[in-house]
Amino acid sequence: MTLSRKGQVIVAADSEELSRIAAERLLARVTAAQNSAAVCLTGGSSPEGLYRRLASAPYRSRLPWDRVHWFMGDDRFVPLAHELGNMGMARRLFLDRVPVAAHHVHPIPTDAGSPDAAARSYEAELKQLYGRDHLNPAHPLFDLVLMGLGDDGHTASLFPHAPALGEAERWVIGVPQAGLAPFVPRVTLTFPALASTREMLFLVTGADKREILARVFSGEDLPAGRARAQGELVWLVDRAAGEENGHASAIG
Ligand code: 6PG
Repeated sequence: MTLSRKGQVIVAADSEELSRIAAERLLARVTAAQNSAAVCLTGGSSPEGLYRRLASAPYRSRLPWDRVHWFMGDDRFVPLAHELGNMGMARRLFLDRVPVAAHHVHPIPTDAGSPDAAARSYEAELKQLYGRDHLNPAHPLFDLVLMGLGDDGHTASLFPHAPALGEAERWVIGVPQAGLAPFVPRVTLTFPALASTREMLFLVTGADKREILARVFSGEDLPAGRARAQGELVWLVDRAAGEENGHASAIG
């Protein structure tokens, strides 16, 4: 398997090992941060093992919870407590089970009047925390951004052929129509905002992802393949997803 641009591929034996490697990388990024750390989470099923692990030993006691702020890269435009919500999922799996202060959890306000209003409000919140209106490559917005890969090649809520893919100014935008189920409007960070990170870590698990992952790695123009990071770009995949023609390889 090849990757047609700069990036690293790590193949984990299975989803258990993948969540352990992801937890170690998250811990490393958070402890390396000067002052407080900012982590941008992802929805979907691939991070579930990681989220459960963060609420369990040894990570529950090793993570400096008082120094980490948690954001979400995209969410479904449903009430905050709705079962389809990404931040709701992260809360159920770990944020509600660890000693994190309420003001360190930054959900996309999906109870706003419209996806666009939610996007503008979240962008304002990100800018306030960042302390500037423009992204400065010398000062990444995030220490770690987690990403997923959809069956159609989407990542965050950046779907194939959507105008959102070309957004260069806004940090967060409303997505009136999802390209894939659940077909509810979304709110998503844009590529420039997601790229403003010391590390972008894709989590991809399961044989169902093998074909789309091979297409991304072959250089096909799919949203996930357009993702860039100012810092490290890492694809952490399990063997079921990464095994293509019986082999997988990492490039630096
Ligand atoms: C969402 C996600 C989305 C997800 C991918 C992969 O809101 O749906 O943020 O971008 O990461 O669809 O999902 P799985 O991990 O479930 O395959």
